[in-house]
Amino acid sequence: MSQSLYPVSDALKSSAHANKEEYQRLYQWSVEDPEAFWAEQGKRLDWIVPFSQVKNCSFAKDKASVKWYEDGQLNASYNCIDRHLPDNAQRTAIIWEGDDPTADKHITYRQLHDEVCKLANGLKQRGVNKGDRVIIYMPMIPEAAYAMLACARIGAVHSVVFGGFSPHAIADRIQDCGAKVIITANFGRRGGNQVALKDNVDKALLKDTTACVEKVIVFKFTDSPCHWNEQKDEWWHELTANCAAQCEPVAMSAEDPLFILYTSGSTGQPKGVVHTTGGYLVYASTTHHYVFDNKPDDIYWCAADVGWITGHTYIVYGPLANGATTLMFEGVPTYPDVRRMGQIVDKHQVSILYTAPTAIRALMAKGDEPVQGSVRDSLRLLGSVGEPINPEAWQWYYQKIGKSQSPIMDTWWQTETGGILITPLPGVTDLKPGSATLPFFGVTPALMSSEGEILEGEAEGNLVITSSWPGQARTVWGDHERYNQTYFSTYENMYFTGDGARRDADGYYWITGRVDDVLNVSGHRLGTAEIESSLVAHPAVAEAAVVGYPHDIKGQGIYVYLLPTDGTEITPELTKAVRTWVREDLSPIASPDMIQWTTGLPKTRSGKIMRRILRKIAANEYEQLGDTSTLADPSVVDELINNRLNR
Ligand code: WT7
Repeated sequence: MSQSLYPVSDALKSSAHANKEEYQRLYQWSVEDPEAFWAEQGKRLDWIVPFSQVKNCSFAKDKASVKWYEDGQLNASYNCIDRHLPDNAQRTAIIWEGDDPTADKHITYRQLHDEVCKLANGLKQRGVNKGDRVIIYMPMIPEAAYAMLACARIGAVHSVVFGGFSPHAIADRIQDCGAKVIITANFGRRGGNQVALKDNVDKALLKDTTACVEKVIVFKFTDSPCHWNEQKDEWWHELTANCAAQCEPVAMSAEDPLFILYTSGSTGQPKGVVHTTGGYLVYASTTHHYVFDNKPDDIYWCAADVGWITGHTYIVYGPLANGATTLMFEGVPTYPDVRRMGQIVDKHQVSILYTAPTAIRALMAKGDEPVQGSVRDSLRLLGSVGEPINPEAWQWYYQKIGKSQSPIMDTWWQTETGGILITPLPGVTDLKPGSATLPFFGVTPALMSSEGEILEGEAEGNLVITSSWPGQARTVWGDHERYNQTYFSTYENMYFTGDGARRDADGYYWITGRVDDVLNVSGHRLGTAEIESSLVAHPAVAEAAVVGYPHDIKGQGIYVYLLPTDGTEITPELTKAVRTWVREDLSPIASPDMIQWTTGLPKTRSGKIMRRILRKIAANEYEQLGDTSTLADPSVVDELINNRLNR
């Protein structure tokens, strides 16, 4: 581990929203009297009915219950838009940068208001009511944010599905949440290619499990034609043509759901993580304020996709709640070439840049080219999210992208946490490359041994959070039991994160990665069980085992072991077909990097696959397999080692 320390600059010490002394005082206060601390933060928002109760939470096994500000009422869209209008109607809310480097747009808070209201009225006309579910399957264009905020305005629960997901994945999500309406675009664009979004929706709607969908609202983004279903489809521009640019925001109870976002777990199908209105928005606003130190003159760019929680909290809800200018980028950092990120920074004078280690590593692999053709002097703060940032990538980000001028906020959090939990703060925290450092206000992390004991001081163990914070997910849609089981059954009265971590002598946290069967591929979360179930649905596959292995750019790669069905002839074409199958069935993100066919898998006598062994072989660490004597048939191990692919 790197021992180097990057102290807070003098400039930030005096200018940032919090300094060292304040942090100590505020942190102390936030954990000793969370009610008072979070009541104070609650004032960041405008409430229709003010709350009198702040926190009502229990992490009890089998009956976890998380409620914040429960008797308050508010509207998220109002908080992200209307309340900025009196003073800042002409401020830019969204800067949109197209996939095509010549395409961009500035949307003021006034324009945002009008577009959101028109769509909200359109949705109402089509019978969308408070509590109804709406799936949003959009490219990275301002209309994706309009759609989210229009739902929030009328109290509909949105569920954004990442534009890279397959028809199968869309169909599963439609069915799970019982969506009434889908909002999509005819096409998206990414890296110079067209993405047939509407076509994917059509395919999803062929299944009779998706009959709950009454309407598909289609934004016409490109001129290419798409298939049309007269019964269900309606153009966005036609729907909204006669809609008023005024729409009264619906009063939502703080604990009414704001959105559902699906994420992968270690078992079964992705789960619909539910975030509610009050606590989520307070947390998004508070963390965005302190972690990114956003000031009125900043241009803030979170380079995530709105299909992930990072996009929800730190492209849309957090920055807009704070009246910031948020940049939305449609494309990828390598198109038209690897200099794109720096060029966007210069073009829009971005001052705060929040991106993922996988993007940094992909650029770093290209040497100095990514930083040629841009000066990036507008930057003052950098952020990282999604996976551990290795010190080498940290240094490259810091020195090359940031010219050693901007500290890096390595933010640890999860879909379930709603916002950032462990992170440096700009004016507060001396940085250590590779460490997410210290807990945010109100966050109480702890490390646990596998025997269930709390570890003190310098230690390594399973990362838990011992008490609730307002941004915490409230349930799994339609399956509270799974929520209890996944997060609260491992350790008594604690939220189990699924991550491992180390704490050093300074109390800094170093996240070591998932300790469950969840992979983190390029910052995207994938369950091995999900990929396996897709693989065994292929006619040539009898059995499948999926593990992660270290990958230079993706962080983790996907290594697949397959047992063919009887009589199957293994050919390179078949291997290719299986890969395509997974890409189309789940998503290109889930595409296996390595596929090894085998005649057997290492199993215990009771039939359990010993993944530990498969992980070692995939990592090419076959000399340290440990004890294999408990295997039903130890000879399969030699075959697996001899045919290993990652050499
Ligand atoms: C998992 C959550 C948080 C939004 C994006 C991912 C890993 C996330 C970090 C970080 C080390 C990190 C964890 C976590 N992770 N940020 N800064 N350092 N690991 O959200 O898809 O819900 O994935 O991402 O393993 O559990 P997600």
